[in-house]
Amino acid sequence: MQPSTLIVVPAEHFTDAAADWIAQRIRAIVAERGRCALAVAGGSTPRPVYERLAARAVPWPAVHIYFGDERRVPPDHADSNYRMVREALLDRVEAGSAHRLNGEASDADAAARAYEALLPAQLDLLVLGMGRDGHTASLFPGSPILAEEGRRRVVAVDGPVGTPARLTLTPLAIREARQRVVLVAGADKADTLARVVGASVEPRVWPVQLALDGVWIVDAAAAVGLPKPG
Ligand code: 6PG
Repeated sequence: MQPSTLIVVPAEHFTDAAADWIAQRIRAIVAERGRCALAVAGGSTPRPVYERLAARAVPWPAVHIYFGDERRVPPDHADSNYRMVREALLDRVEAGSAHRLNGEASDADAAARAYEALLPAQLDLLVLGMGRDGHTASLFPGSPILAEEGRRRVVAVDGPVGTPARLTLTPLAIREARQRVVLVAGADKADTLARVVGASVEPRVWPVQLALDGVWIVDAAAAVGLPKPG
C-alpha cells in the first residue's frame, strides 16, 4: 500500500528537500496553532537534514522538541539519539524546549512513564525513519508492543541482538500524532521500501507501515523499486 503522500527526489537534493519540507511544515503549524510539538527520529539519515533545518527560517522559540525513541545509553554516548540531535540541531537553534528520553535511567519503565507524562496530548509533527528491516522508531518487526492495544504511549523495549535496549513511542503515540513524515534515503533501503509499499498492511511485520498515512520523502536511490507513477 502506497504512502498517502510520496515525494521522490534526486539523491543529491534529498537533504535540502527534506529540510525545506519540515521547515515549511513547522512554519505552517506555528502560524496555525502558535506552537509546534516536533518529535525527531534518530539514526543516520536525518542527521544532515537536521543540520540543514537548523539554518532554515523556522520560529524556533515556538518549537518544542521531543524524541521518537532513544537508546538506553547516556546522552553523551556515541549511540545516543539525543547526542546526534543536540549536535545537528539543538546546539544550533534556540528551541522553545527540548525533552530528551532518559536513556540512562536504571528503571526504564519509570523513565518511559515519566516521558509519557510530559508528552503533549498530540504531537504536531513526528519525524520517522525506516530501518532495513522495516522498523521505525524502536518498533522492530515481531515486537510484542506491536500487538498490544493498551494506552501506553512510551515503553521500554529490547533492541535487536547486540544493540542497546531502547525507549520508544508506541504505535498508539505514532498514530495519535497529527502528522507523520518518514525520511528514507539510500540504495540499501530500496528492497525494504519496495516490500513495505508492495505488501498488505501488516505493521507487525513492517512497523514503518504505521506511518503510511503520512508524508514519505524518499530519495531516488531508495525509490528504484517503487511502482512508476501514471
Ligand atoms: C534509531 C531511529 C531508527 C531509525 C532507523 C533508520 O533510534 O535508530 O530512531 O528508527 O530511524 O533505524 O536509521 P538510519 O536512518 O540510520 O538508516
